[in-house]
Amino acid sequence: MLTWTLWCGLLFLLWFYFLWSRRRFYLLTLKIPGPLGYPILGMAHWLMRREDILNAFGCFLDKHGPTIFSWLGPIPFMIVSDPQVVQDIFTSPHCINKGIIYKAVDDGAGTGLFSLKDPQWSIHRKLLNPAFGHKVLLSFLPIFNRETTLLLEQLKPLEDSGEKDLIPLLQRFTLGIATQTTMGSDVKNEKSFKSNSLLGRYQCILETMTDMCFSPWLNSRFFRQLAGKETPYHQAKTEIRQFIRNIIEKKLAEDKKGTLPTIQSNDKNIFLNLATDLLRRGVFTLKNVEDESNIIVFGAFETTANAVYYTLMLLAMFPDYQERAFEEIQNMFPNAGDFDVTYADTQQMVYLDLILNESMRVIPPVPVVSRQTTQDVKLSNGIVVPQGVQIAIDIYHMHRSKTIWGPDAETFNPDHFLPHNIQDKHPYAYIPFTKGIRNCIGWRYALISAKITLAKLLRNYRFTTSFPFEDLYFVEDITMKLKAVPLLELQKRKIINKPAMSLTDVLKLNKTQLFAKIRDGLPLLQRTQNLLDCKDDLLFAWEAKESCLLVRNWRSSQSANVTVQYQTLIPSSTVSLEVDRVLASNEGSLVALSGRHGVTILELPRRWGPDGYYKDGKASITCRSYALDTQLFLNNPHLEVRQVRWHPHSVSDSTLLVLLNNNTIRVYNHSKLRHVWKVGPSVVRGGTNSSLCDFGEVAVDFDIAPAAKSRDTEPASVAENETAMDKSNKTLIAAKTLPKQERIEWPVVVMRENGNIYILLTGLDSEVTRLQGPISITPQARDNYGLESCAIMIIPSLPPTIVIAESNGKLHHALLMGAEAAEHSFNEVDDFVLIEPSEYVIHVLETVKLELGLTASAAGEGGATHNCPIYLKRDLINEMRYFAYHSAGLHAITVNFISELQRYLDSESVEEVFELSASSRAEYILCTKFNSSESVNAVLGLALLQIPAGVVILLGSGQVISLKLVIDAQLLLTPKENRQTSADVSQQESGPSFADTIKSLLQRSVNQPILADKLSSPSAQESYELLNQAIEVLREQYLKRHELVRAAFARHINQMQLKKDQQLQEIEDLEQERELISEKAHKLAERFEEISYNQELLVRKCNGLMQKANASLPNSVVAEREISQEVDRLNKITKSMAAGLENAKKTLNKQRYHIAKSQEDLKKNAYELPEKQHRTITEILTQLAGEIDRQITDVKRINKIVGV
Ligand code: HEM
Repeated sequence: MLTWTLWCGLLFLLWFYFLWSRRRFYLLTLKIPGPLGYPILGMAHWLMRREDILNAFGCFLDKHGPTIFSWLGPIPFMIVSDPQVVQDIFTSPHCINKGIIYKAVDDGAGTGLFSLKDPQWSIHRKLLNPAFGHKVLLSFLPIFNRETTLLLEQLKPLEDSGEKDLIPLLQRFTLGIATQTTMGSDVKNEKSFKSNSLLGRYQCILETMTDMCFSPWLNSRFFRQLAGKETPYHQAKTEIRQFIRNIIEKKLAEDKKGTLPTIQSNDKNIFLNLATDLLRRGVFTLKNVEDESNIIVFGAFETTANAVYYTLMLLAMFPDYQERAFEEIQNMFPNAGDFDVTYADTQQMVYLDLILNESMRVIPPVPVVSRQTTQDVKLSNGIVVPQGVQIAIDIYHMHRSKTIWGPDAETFNPDHFLPHNIQDKHPYAYIPFTKGIRNCIGWRYALISAKITLAKLLRNYRFTTSFPFEDLYFVEDITMKLKAVPLLELQKRKIINKPAMSLTDVLKLNKTQLFAKIRDGLPLLQRTQNLLDCKDDLLFAWEAKESCLLVRNWRSSQSANVTVQYQTLIPSSTVSLEVDRVLASNEGSLVALSGRHGVTILELPRRWGPDGYYKDGKASITCRSYALDTQLFLNNPHLEVRQVRWHPHSVSDSTLLVLLNNNTIRVYNHSKLRHVWKVGPSVVRGGTNSSLCDFGEVAVDFDIAPAAKSRDTEPASVAENETAMDKSNKTLIAAKTLPKQERIEWPVVVMRENGNIYILLTGLDSEVTRLQGPISITPQARDNYGLESCAIMIIPSLPPTIVIAESNGKLHHALLMGAEAAEHSFNEVDDFVLIEPSEYVIHVLETVKLELGLTASAAGEGGATHNCPIYLKRDLINEMRYFAYHSAGLHAITVNFISELQRYLDSESVEEVFELSASSRAEYILCTKFNSSESVNAVLGLALLQIPAGVVILLGSGQVISLKLVIDAQLLLTPKENRQTSADVSQQESGPSFADTIKSLLQRSVNQPILADKLSSPSAQESYELLNQAIEVLREQYLKRHELVRAAFARHINQMQLKKDQQLQEIEDLEQERELISEKAHKLAERFEEISYNQELLVRKCNGLMQKANASLPNSVVAEREISQEVDRLNKITKSMAAGLENAKKTLNKQRYHIAKSQEDLKKNAYELPEKQHRTITEILTQLAGEIDRQITDVKRINKIVGV
């Protein structure tokens, strides 16, 4: 009973110790939620079947959050799908080792990079990293291309013949590539490859390895044998080992003979070259080389094959995206069949990139990876994960998390990777190759090879499937598997001669129904107007015949299967105006339709539905509309609208400023008239004041400058203080003591026909205005700036840039600056309008002269300059650029000094003086007038598109021109300017960069504009002149320059070649030097070890000598010597005693042995005497003993007597 109690107590203590040693894991359950599972089993029973693993993980993560803690039997176990925690783990040096689940990989594939433990792993990784460097990858491109061409050959028999399983074919293909690129061996010639047995062997190992990972008992050969898996597994392993060994041996033999490998270049960084070199140098053993080779091939072939197959499968399920990808590839490779894809091509496959990323997001080829903590790891949320925890990183669920990827996270949509969608995502939210310290070594290899394969396959075939996306069932394996693999059908892409994309109508708008309708109602009178406008993705166009506004989503209608062509917005009240200007408000909630005799405002309906159409794409919608001040225009037939602009800072997006030819600006909020601001002398009722017109005093245009603080500070709300004040003192007190309040003003810059510019200082919604002017314009010009002024525009640079346009084609670029002191100090009264001295001055920096039509200026005939009003439009994407359109076409003007100004203002140097170094550039983009006749083909509408940037122009002839635009401000800069903005000092020192040189060579003084269709067909003479002129421009401005550029390129290439050769030589020298140094280092290391050993011996000898020397020193202390002698003596005694003791021990042992033996013998021979005999013998013996004693005594006595 006592023993039992003791046993139980001991067991209890052991159990308690066990629990105590794991207390930190139990404490972790309090910090990280998760399913506890059953005792002993933990959550293991939920993960018994591979098919259930991902589902079970998903349920736990849904229930407990993105990081959970539980038990796998007795093993503490975490599942993580939170990007931040994933980052903590992947970047921790204590989480480098793989989880125990991967133990089976060692057995199947060998102990290579994949499963090695740190620190061996870091050593191997460092040594093998160069095998996946950029240069090495580039050298694989011919292999990728060649093999994909062979794959296309193999796919030919499958064309249009129903759905097929392409996975085995793709795996064979990727295995071929992997062995060639890493092992340098073309397995295609091997018998085993041809018969597919090699692939079968690889698959068998992968399969058994996976079984072993998820059913740990199969790690025992006994159980494998029971399950009938051992024999094929063993055979496969042996065969693959032999296959790899043969390649290595062949390579070593080749190296000995000095022959070059047949397939790949002799780059020493190619995997096999690198590995065998390490073997030769003794860094790797033969087993290391075999294991690593095995792992690389295993790592490469199945993952890449799956990634390619899953992408094709998803594209087959989502044909729209497949078509988009096809379009991109077709644009790059117009001819189907075989073509070579270069590295640069792979970089340009932007859409394919999105698709590949999205495919690996939705179906990550490796769904779960595992790690274990080798020390405590502190997560960024403060929780410490103790040493010994197994961690599963659930890539699959993290890639499909709605919190990270939004509501359609579970579906395939490449837009998830558009820059604006991906930029806010956590860097570890998308990790198909993992990230951090132990990421996939072959990720770039995989991406390049997958892109090349996909590009060639998609260019030649359309892939379809009847398997719906929703029925996909994912099975966790080492790599991702599908329960049922969807089959794919290959349809050969028909060779269609794609019509060449029109260079003048890239958006193909000419053929749209919208513009067909617009053409019907085009005004007969050819004068420049603006019947188009664009807000975000909506293009508005005024249809004059039916008086309605047509709208089209130009961005979404690019896709092939768009159903909604355009929508008609019908104004609720009839618009009787002859609309010549369509202007959408800043937020796109209203559209102003302005004509010469009135303005109507149209309220836009709400947008909803997939493409954001109005009212989900209804074809016609009636919109609320209201005409402004109808009565006023009816009563004043001479009243004309000169300009309309939405106030850029109206909070309600509804403040419209209308400039009339009676020198007033009427401010409306929706339909309500809020203010009437006078900007000049009144015009006599009933007709324009003729004298005013003669002097050009009528305002023609205005624009709103950026906000500025009012210089004229006002006393703070006098009225409020009024009550507290003595009324008689009111003015005095107000003037003397009240604090001044700062007011924000929106200066309205108004230009009159004679070029005089005035400024109206007013708040956004204020009755109080101050008119100042005319503003002095410096430097003084002989005949004023803008005697034929027709338009003014403000670019909100710092200080604001003013563009003044004259109808003769001159554009003055000026700065609006504060005057130091008012020019003239008296207020003027001009026809009851109080005009203050101006607080501003305008400084003209440059004048650009536009060519208005080709004939007069370009043909050099000296004909009269064409005169036409110019309309100005700012480019909202690029502050430095604006557009000027007129009846002779369209110009794009780049104002270079704006960026110079910016740089000047940003520079902190006080001494720097602002100098205008680069003049602005006007590019004639579209010419609609190329003869001297009076007929014009005016621009009737101009709309600027954003993302992608473009411009749409509607011409009087009905033709629509749509062009793409460069948006990168850097590209618009002249080379000189460009150089200055780049802060690269060294570049400035070393002269202009090559790119700048090419830019300056290509910079044209004149460009060949696009020639719009003419209204009437040109005469032979006109055509001849046009041709001559075009040839002249092409020769002078294009061909000659291109020739120069070609020469510059040739020179540059030669120089680069020379430099490259020199650098290669230097690299080679350095490499040799490095080898010498490393050899020396080796030798030195050996020498060092030898020396340290010798040194140790010497030190020991020295110590002995020292002791002896000490002992024999004559002058050493007597006591010391005595002690040492004593010690010696004692040592000797101790030694002899020890020897004696040892002998004694031996004797003792012997004796014990003999005693024991004799006792045994005695026991054996013991004979029991009868009692009587025993007594008799005892008596006899006692008598004998007495006799002997007596005799001894006698002998002693005799001895004494004798004296012996
Ligand atoms: C689409 C293709 C591929 C995917 C999705 C992929 C994914 C991965 C992932 C997720 C890991 C990390 C496993 C873990 O942490 O447990 C990994 C490791 C690895 N991959 Fe890849 N891989 C791909 C292609 C390749 C290729 C082409 C190669 C070789 C040429 C390769 C060689 C390796 C190796 C050697 C490792 C172990 C790295 C180490 O632990 O240092 N992989 N791969």
